[in-house]
Order: sequence, then C-alpha cells, then structure tokens
Amino acid sequence: MSRTPPYAADLRAALARVSRGVDERELARATEALVSRYRSVAPANAPILASDAHVAAYAAYRMPATHAALGRVLGELADRRLAPRTMLDLGGGTGAAAWAASGAFDTLERVTVLDQVEAALALGRRLVEGAAAPALAEATFARAVAGRWPEADVDLVTVSYVLSELDEGEQQTLVADAMRRGRCVVVVEPGTPDGYARVIRARDALLAAGWHLVGPCPHSADCPLAQGDWCHFAARVNRSAEHRRLKGAELSYEDEKFSWVAAVAPDVPAPEARSGRILRHPLKRKGFVEFQACRPDGTAGREVVSKKAGERYREARDAEWGDLLP
Ligand SMILES: C[S@@+](CC[C@H](N)C(=O)[O-])C[C@H]1O[C@@H](n2cnc3c(N)ncnc32)[C@H](O)[C@@H]1O
Repeated sequence: MSRTPPYAADLRAALARVSRGVDERELARATEALVSRYRSVAPANAPILASDAHVAAYAAYRMPATHAALGRVLGELADRRLAPRTMLDLGGGTGAAAWAASGAFDTLERVTVLDQVEAALALGRRLVEGAAAPALAEATFARAVAGRWPEADVDLVTVSYVLSELDEGEQQTLVADAMRRGRCVVVVEPGTPDGYARVIRARDALLAAGWHLVGPCPHSADCPLAQGDWCHFAARVNRSAEHRRLKGAELSYEDEKFSWVAAVAPDVPAPEARSGRILRHPLKRKGFVEFQACRPDGTAGREVVSKKAGERYREARDAEWGDLLP
C-alpha cells in the first residue's frame, strides 16, 4: 500500500474556512455526542448527523480521519493502475471520499456524492468551493436514501464508514446497489472487530457475484486470520490546532484504524499479480525484517526477509504495515 498521504493541505484549509464563526462550545458538545454515538455498534434508526452542529463537528473531527483512510486505500488502487474517470460516493456525507479520490486519481472527471442528510451535503458543497481539481470543485452533492439511490453507471463506487449505520439486510442491499452502479467497489469501515465483520460480509457478497478482489486480500479464499483476530490497517492523520482543541488532545497526530475491501466487476481485468499483504508493524532487526503477512495461497503467517535477499531486503526495510509484501 502506498505511504500514508499527507493530510491534504487544501482540505485542511477548506475545513478551516467553513469552521469560521461556528460556536465553539456548541461544536464541542456536538463532537462529544458524536464520539459517544460512534462507540455504539447498534444501527442508527434516525440520522446521526442530526443538526448543523453535528455536521460541523463531523467535518472537523472525523472527516480528516476518514479522508486519511480513504487516501491510503485509493492511493493503492492508483498505484495498481486503476484510473477511474467517474465516481459515486454512497453515504458520502461531507465528501471525504471525493477529496481522497481527487488526490489519488488525476483521471477523475465526474464525482457524485449521495447522502440522506442535506446539511452534510451542503457543507460538502461549501468545502469543495474553489478546489483546485475541477472534478472536485464541480462535484454534485445530492440527497438520496439507501435502497433508493438513483441509477448510475460509473467506474468507481465508494461506501465508506456507512455500513455501521445500517442493519445487516440494509448493508447487503447497499453492497448490491454499489455493484449494480460501478465497475470497482470500495468498502471502508472502522478497523474494529465489528467493522472487519461488516467488511468480510461485503467481501463475501462481492465474491459470490463473481467480482475479483483487488485488496487488501492477496487471494479469494476464506480469511485465514484466527478467531478473535481482525484484519485492519492504520492511516496517520496530522491534527490541526482546531482538531486538537476539539478532541482535547495533545498529540499532533492520530492513527485512524480501518478495514477495507476493494473489488472489480467480473468483466474488468483484475489488476496485476498480487504479493502478500503485511498485517502488522514489521519487526526490523539487524540483518533481517520479520513480517506477519497474508499470503497469495490463502494462508497467513510469519515471513522473514534477510539481508541476503539484496534488493528485496532494501524494500523490506522501507515496508510498512498495510503495504504489499516486498
Ligand atoms: C459516518 S458518516 C460517513 C461519511 C463519509 N462516507 C465519510 O467517510 O466520511 C455516515 C454517512 O452515511 C449516511 N447514511 C447513513 N444511513 C444512510 C441512509 N439510510 N441513506 C443515505 N445515507 C445514509 C449518513 O448520513 C452519514 O453522512
């Protein structure tokens, strides 16, 4: 997987611009409410982004993190030569995936973000005003509800941090709706055991429909991780001063943990041959690097690259958790 993208300076500037004049105490209260709601694993029976303050809080404290996770995933797809021209973001909220896609793919021409909450879409529209990339500046933000998305035919459909708000039946419908509308589907969820379980169900649905996995799995067999373990990765998010203030945090960064799956439709050639996937922080010792990796043969376990491996060892020294195994 490509390196964690820098926290996009233009998204940071856009977030600072739209947060001017927002009542800080109201924002802090709304942030607290969102933090406690997102700790729950129950599906939402009413929109979680219930007011303008909730939407502003989401953009200020969650959007940088979801953007960073999507940046890593879409950055890898770009490295693997996926080059979408059109994109649909289902449950796109304030547009994190659109920003990440615009950073990853210079081929992007048309972006549509759909969501049930008009206030989130309105903030998304304000954020992209004046964006450097035309596809982002001209993105469409439109209201739609899961199960009743408008028809579409696009290269890329993203479904990020949405499944957790739906019950299992609605999650399956959403994945099927994504497959019907795109040639590549990307699902991203929080990197928790629950998020991973939802990603695995989405993966099962993609495979059952004959789709080819692009990542993170280097194979289409059942996930080999032991019971109690879950496949997840991390994206570094540099916190702005406002982000730190809102979260009452001192560190200048946080690591957003996420689980993901991406696949292309049966009639789309699967991107280049795959190597294993690094599942944990590598142990870099004198003379060798030790990895926990998921392998193309459907197994997972320890892989060691020693100094004797020459160029492969040099690549192993640079490799990180979430990257493809050198
Ligand atoms: C946690 S936010 C994620 C937003 C964005 N995708 C991101 O990654 O930052 C979940 C989004 O899903 C939307 N959503 C949840 N249930 C929905 C439904 N039934 N129909 C349409 N949108 C829905 C919410 O309004 C919210 O904007």
